[in-house]
Amino acid sequence: MSEVGAQIAAGRARGSFITLEGGEGVGKSTQIRHLLRNLREAGIEAIGTREPGGSPGAEILRKVLLSGGMARLGPAAEAILFAAARVDHIDKKIEPALAAGTFVVCDRFADSTRAYQGTRGQLDPRFLSALERVTLGDVRPDLTLILDLPATVGLARAAARRGAGEAPDRFEREDLEFHENLRAAFLAIAAAEPVRCAIIDAERAEEDVAHEIFDVILNRLIAPAQAKQVKRG
Ligand code: TMP
Repeated sequence: MSEVGAQIAAGRARGSFITLEGGEGVGKSTQIRHLLRNLREAGIEAIGTREPGGSPGAEILRKVLLSGGMARLGPAAEAILFAAARVDHIDKKIEPALAAGTFVVCDRFADSTRAYQGTRGQLDPRFLSALERVTLGDVRPDLTLILDLPATVGLARAAARRGAGEAPDRFEREDLEFHENLRAAFLAIAAAEPVRCAIIDAERAEEDVAHEIFDVILNRLIAPAQAKQVKRG
């Protein structure tokens, strides 16, 4: 184990919870691969996971939600179903890993419900806050990286990533205005919670984005944990 990893392992009983958020095609999955590699190279045990999904029960809900079959129920019911998947994911995977001292890197989490289900403005923000309160409990991200791109660039990337003949999913099918509002919603979350969130310009080269993400992790999570350890020691 490297020095950083040993210090983290010694200094933190609980793992850190890192979430990546953003609109379509911002490159979250690619960046999670880089981040997991960088964390493991620093000697930090880390797992990657995603939402909706991440546990067998939640993956069943993922299929239903992304097929668009639930859209007719409206944004409140959809938000409840995303939250139901999240409860299973937290109970079965996220909380046990954090409790064991493992870092958890999650592709989307509750901010996606706030942004996606909240974006048409049909849901009372108090409804979304209450849903978070009853479903998340104490499991809140320590750090949220908001990958930011113009909506047109992200949608073009998402279309290029799809195989020929593969249909866009329930949310990729929404219009440009929806995706532009979504971007604004994520930026508003970052502005409202600057201690938890960092905005990452995702329009740059993949390696540059990966570098900045790891710098943010080092500065905001790892260096403070090391400082605490030195104080205690
Ligand atoms: P992704 O795997 O490309 O991120 O697809 C997940 C889709 O589900 C994406 O379009 C965002 C959407 N979503 C919500 O609408 N609400 C949520 O709470 C989550 C986690 C995802």
